[in-house]
Amino acid sequence: MNKAMIQKTLPSSAPSAPPADVSPSAADWPPRLDLPALPLGVRIVARTRSHQTATENLAARLLGPGRHVRAAAMLREGQEEPRGLGRAALDRRGRLLGSVAFWPIHIGAHPGWLLGPLLVDPAHEGRGIGGHLVQAGVSGLPPPHLVLLVGDVAYYEPLGFRALGFQALKLDLPAPVDKARLLVCAPPDFALAELEGRVRAGPHQDGA
Ligand SMILES: CC(C)(COP(=O)(O)OP(=O)(O)OC[C@H]1O[C@@H](n2cnc3c(N)ncnc32)[C@H](O)[C@@H]1OP(=O)(O)O)[C@@H](O)C(=O)NCCC(=O)NCCS
Repeated sequence: MNKAMIQKTLPSSAPSAPPADVSPSAADWPPRLDLPALPLGVRIVARTRSHQTATENLAARLLGPGRHVRAAAMLREGQEEPRGLGRAALDRRGRLLGSVAFWPIHIGAHPGWLLGPLLVDPAHEGRGIGGHLVQAGVSGLPPPHLVLLVGDVAYYEPLGFRALGFQALKLDLPAPVDKARLLVCAPPDFALAELEGRVRAGPHQDGA
């Protein structure tokens, strides 16, 4: 069938397809993850003050005294953790098995969130709790949809994060950090090339 014939066979006023939801950011956020189910009896809840002591004890146990001088920790220093963003993993009896926190930051001109620390009790590692904490936390964040962390790409990539690569060299952090470990989670259409400048902690303009 030649081109003219094809054109002839097409109805002249074919109904046009309904407009799709064309907002890639809305459609692609939060990242869709394929996680195994949480272990039986484990639930993820919003972290509250009642989880504070157990979280600090877990952080001390897992990260040791050096935890305060890490770049990510220095970004949080002096900041009050915003309420309602962190998540805790609890067992049936309400004991804390894991925790994740989020902090408002600015990456150059872009407001975003810093993820960390992510902590899972070693007795419960490898059961999917860390992944579920990240997923629940990231999904619950209000805009802006831009999350930064310092961590292992091999662990966080399946959780929707990507390495900043050379772009990381354009970021200044308050303490030395291995820039290969700077990872972000953002909608796929977010231009990573826009990220440059000083990374600093501080509330967003809307007060978050
Ligand atoms: C890293 C951590 C949060 C993972 O928690 P978790 O509940 O065991 O994670 P999940 O069960 O969701 O995922 C486990 C998988 O990730 C892998 N994994 C764990 N740490 C990893 C790392 N650093 N790099 C690559 N893969 C890693 C495990 O081998 C496991 O793989 P498998 O499913 O193929 O066996 C936990 O080990 C932890 O608290 N570590 C100490 C604190 C820390 O380093 N926190 C992160 C930086 S702040």
